[in-house]
Amino acid sequence: PNAPILVSFPDADALVVSLSAFLVKAQKDSIDKKGRFTIALSGGSLPKMLRGLIGNPAVKWNKWQVFYVDERVVSLDHPDSNHRACMEHLFSKVSIPEGNIHHIDTSLLDDLEELSDAYEKDLIREFAQKDSARFPVFDVILLGMGPDGHTASLFPGHELLLEEDRWVAYVNDSPKPPPKRITFTYPVINHAARIVFVAAGKEKATTLRSVLDVPEEGLPSARVKPVYPGQLYWFVDDAAAANVAYP
Ligand code: 6PG
Repeated sequence: PNAPILVSFPDADALVVSLSAFLVKAQKDSIDKKGRFTIALSGGSLPKMLRGLIGNPAVKWNKWQVFYVDERVVSLDHPDSNHRACMEHLFSKVSIPEGNIHHIDTSLLDDLEELSDAYEKDLIREFAQKDSARFPVFDVILLGMGPDGHTASLFPGHELLLEEDRWVAYVNDSPKPPPKRITFTYPVINHAARIVFVAAGKEKATTLRSVLDVPEEGLPSARVKPVYPGQLYWFVDDAAAANVAYP
């Protein structure tokens, strides 16, 4: 496999500019090749970090198919909803067809199994035959990392770290509220063509050191390992990278 590529920026604004240039290039390569661009987004501070795309005429929004790496099991207008955060910070400010944004089916909020199955079916509809494979191959998956090293809704010590078959799974015991979530599994994350972590701030410094310098400690973020020829990138700020010796 290819080694992770670490890029560090003096501040969030510089990171935002570079991340949006990266996404515009990835989008162009994907659309040139197959006429569409598939991307999965995370919550946390990530939606705000996509602000560099707003007003950028190079972005072909109608070719984007957007999924969420993980989602809290709440209504779409709930303050905890990742979809809501992405709508607020990005999609309400650009013109993307509503049908290109794949959010959870909120008629199924009371049944986690059905909810995650339905989201998996949505993925299958988008990917089966087109990029047909055992797992979907996203053009880009964007991830954040919690201070405990979790990514998506894959938490330290959780049994889902071992999931090998499902595309989408649910959690009803997240250590960080809200407890109920659905999440992509590692096989889906790891099959993406480009996996991009975005991590900023000094609260991330110790965790980032573990993930990049001592991956054998096995934090959830360190278990993100693209299946060849996928490439893993870390877009971080200097504060987060302060303790890291890598590369
Ligand atoms: C969650 C949080 C979490 C968050 C990370 C990174 O669902 O528990 O959203 O996954 O994305 O803790 O957060 P920041 O990107 O805001 O640092």
